[in-house]
Amino acid sequence: MLKKDRYHVAVMGATGAVGQEMVSILEERKFPIERLSLFASERSAGTTIPFNGSDIIVGKLTPDVFSGIDIVLGATGADLSREMTPHAVSAGCVVIDNSSAYRMDPTVPLVVPEVNGEAIALHRGIIANPNCSTAQLVVALKPLHDAARLQRVVVTTFQSVSGTGKEAMDELVDQTRALLSFKEVACRVYKEQIAFNCIVNWEADPITGFTEEETKIIGETRKILGVLDLPVTATTIRVPVLRAHGESVNIECEKKLTANEARAVLSTAPGVVVFDDPGRGIYPTPLMAAGRDEVYIGRIREDSSVANGLHLWVVADNLRKGAALNAIQIAEHLIGSVGHGE
Ligand SMILES: NC(=O)c1ccc[n+]([C@@H]2O[C@H](COP(=O)([O-])OP(=O)(O)OC[C@H]3O[C@@H](n4cnc5c(N)ncnc54)[C@H](OP(=O)(O)O)[C@@H]3O)[C@@H](O)[C@H]2O)c1
Repeated sequence: MLKKDRYHVAVMGATGAVGQEMVSILEERKFPIERLSLFASERSAGTTIPFNGSDIIVGKLTPDVFSGIDIVLGATGADLSREMTPHAVSAGCVVIDNSSAYRMDPTVPLVVPEVNGEAIALHRGIIANPNCSTAQLVVALKPLHDAARLQRVVVTTFQSVSGTGKEAMDELVDQTRALLSFKEVACRVYKEQIAFNCIVNWEADPITGFTEEETKIIGETRKILGVLDLPVTATTIRVPVLRAHGESVNIECEKKLTANEARAVLSTAPGVVVFDDPGRGIYPTPLMAAGRDEVYIGRIREDSSVANGLHLWVVADNLRKGAALNAIQIAEHLIGSVGHGE
């Protein structure tokens, strides 16, 4: 991609939970934009989204919209990304895709800039963003891996409904309102009621029982950390929280790290805030992480049930570090300007 002062940027899926967050982060971080083009389905074509003091009209996404665009931020589902991304690449755009379409393609870099930003330079037109749960996990794991060599990772997620998109956020609010008014609950996005419940809403492999989300976390974590045989296992749970995912993470390392040593390592790591004071009841929650850029880590404890074990509680906003912010940080590295916050 040619170096320019300002870029023509497009968001595919601009009206969704991730797409809308991308538009506001581009404005917040003063990304050097010459022109912003916004695309979504026919349903939203003609609606407007505010950006830098003007209203941008959303266009219908079709294969012929990409001419003249430098960077495409992808925020649609994987099938649509598979259909549209090749057209964007043929038109000369670099696509930073949030869907799962290209993440495990060996020719596509899968990037979290704090962890493997150097992989951006290897792109051939597509750069993939990881799954939201993976993004915050690797930000926490990388500094510990560098300090003590990970031997095994066990993660259990507590994932907010915004991870499923804007309709799931509406469903949680609608169900909660209905239940508190003693009315019937409608399930449109999830098969089971999410309000006042915890569910497993992903397809599971009939043989292994692992969900798609668990499989993604395992494969993507290994790819981003560059340790393809790292023993990683995951359990994913959807909880009735609107925004920000929590993760209980248990690790075993080659070298012993005390809880205080782990706090010291993490407190200087990029993108991390250690928020951990057990004596004063201080630990991160999804509510405090919502709308923020950093990955918050607390409940750091030595796990004496294994050699060199540690427990962590890792919380981050899935729409920001888990998706839109990470994509825009990749774009900032791509154009060689590192935005504020880094
Ligand atoms: N949510 C997260 O935390 C998160 C994190 C990481 C990655 N991701 C991934 O990011 C992608 C977007 O997720 P999301 O949560 O933002 O989903 P979402 O809220 O459901 O938004 C989907 C977007 O795709 C558009 N779209 C749907 N069908 C279309 C069509 N036929 N033509 C053009 N546009 C179409 C929608 O437009 P309309 O409004 O017009 O329907 C909307 O803008 C997904 O691949 C998801 O897996 C999400």
